[in-house]
Amino acid sequence: MLVLGIESSCDETGVALVETTASERPVLRADALHSQIEMHQAYGGVVPELASRDHIRRVLPLAEAVLAKAEVGLSNVDVVAYTRGPGLAGALLVGAGVACALGAALGKPVLGVHHLEGHLLSPFLSADPPEFPFIALLVSGGHTQLMRVEGVGRYELLGETIDDAAGEAFDKSAKLMGLGYPGGPALSRLAESGDGKAFKLPRPLMHSGNLDFSFAGLKTAVLTQAKKLGDTLEANKADLAASTQAAIVEVLVKKSMAALVQSGLKRLVVAGGVGANRLLRADLNSACARMGVRVHYPELHLCTDNGAMIAMAAAMRLQAGVQTANRSYAFDVKPRWPLAEL
Ligand code: KG4
Ligand code: ZN
Repeated sequence: MLVLGIESSCDETGVALVETTASERPVLRADALHSQIEMHQAYGGVVPELASRDHIRRVLPLAEAVLAKAEVGLSNVDVVAYTRGPGLAGALLVGAGVACALGAALGKPVLGVHHLEGHLLSPFLSADPPEFPFIALLVSGGHTQLMRVEGVGRYELLGETIDDAAGEAFDKSAKLMGLGYPGGPALSRLAESGDGKAFKLPRPLMHSGNLDFSFAGLKTAVLTQAKKLGDTLEANKADLAASTQAAIVEVLVKKSMAALVQSGLKRLVVAGGVGANRLLRADLNSACARMGVRVHYPELHLCTDNGAMIAMAAAMRLQAGVQTANRSYAFDVKPRWPLAEL
């Protein structure tokens, strides 16, 4: 069975083709991506209306490129999957509209996918896929959550951020240091040449005894520190970036380890854009090694938003029998949609 997946929830248009067989794990046949980063850069962040318009321009050429790469005709696609939420309403509507129009024109069923489930299941596309059950650390631009994952569609929320997401903490700190958008990758690049111990920044909720996070105070502390540095900010920027990154990473690692201890599980899956962060990966690797825990990541290029994870999540849901694709093309989107509601 061939599943075409379309991702358009934020600032990346992604399309991919995944093939399932009855017995084996679905495999990625081809994927294509267009990032809108350059377009939004001038504004210092994502402009929703521009994002929607660009998705409209990109999605069909990307779909054509994917089918050509896989040497598959459109009529051979069995299911068209799309991101139903969460995300920007207008951007989601583009992917949903195109997917349902394609489905209707081809007479093929469609399936709406939860964006975070896409992230969560993206490590199954890697050469070293996880096995259920596991603890998942979901760290994206909009979400920071620890989940207990028993199987496809069986997600229990253990803890989440009460304010900013980890990606947001990276992005907002980067912005006030003048590093532009998207801040996460820029801040972590600069941090490589800095000292993570140079500035004492707060580790919010680190010792709260639960698995919740809070990152809003960190951004304020970074701002206060930046103001204090004044004219010397430029000379100390790498140290401030490294200290910010160290604070975020330390909390993420500590809470992930606590979730593993509490659950007794010996497997951790890390997903979402911040999962591309090198320090986070290095520190999680050593903490997990100490605890005899196996840790899995998506391939680096599949950490941030992409179509492959949407096609994969749809394929895995169909394969597990937790959802069926349907021929009702009256779609809706869910800009806010807790994963635990699935
Ligand atoms: O998962 P994602 O692509 O989009 C959402 O669903 O939100 O995550 C984007 C987030 C942004 O906040 C971005 O700054 C962050 O992931 N990010 C990083 C890195 N690469 C992306 N944060 C820290 N270090 C990175 N290398
Ligand atoms: Zn995402």
